[in-house]
Amino acid sequence: MDEWIDAGAETDIAAGPRATVVGNRAVVLWRTEGGTVSALDDACPHEGNRLSEGVVDGEDLICIYHGFTIAADGWCDAAGSAARCHDVRVRDGRVLVRVPESSS
Ligand code: FES
Repeated sequence: MDEWIDAGAETDIAAGPRATVVGNRAVVLWRTEGGTVSALDDACPHEGNRLSEGVVDGEDLICIYHGFTIAADGWCDAAGSAARCHDVRVRDGRVLVRVPESSS
């Protein structure tokens, strides 16, 4: 069964995207300006560069490498594919992420 893993404090992503490791997966945690917390594999669907180096623009994350726009669910129109998106909960100020059991 997949498990929820504490990936850090909600305040850690207040200033922008943050790279972390959940299970054995490299993940980027970030929050849209509207407050949605997103956990994606830290690999751009374009060429696999680190999304954690990107910047938040409204409800999207902009990859700094070629400027592609990534939605909170990982979808990227320009690439025609998505970064893998993981389930997220925020409880008592902690960000909990559920990743597939095989990667933990
Ligand atoms: S690697 Fe992200 S836009 Fe090209």
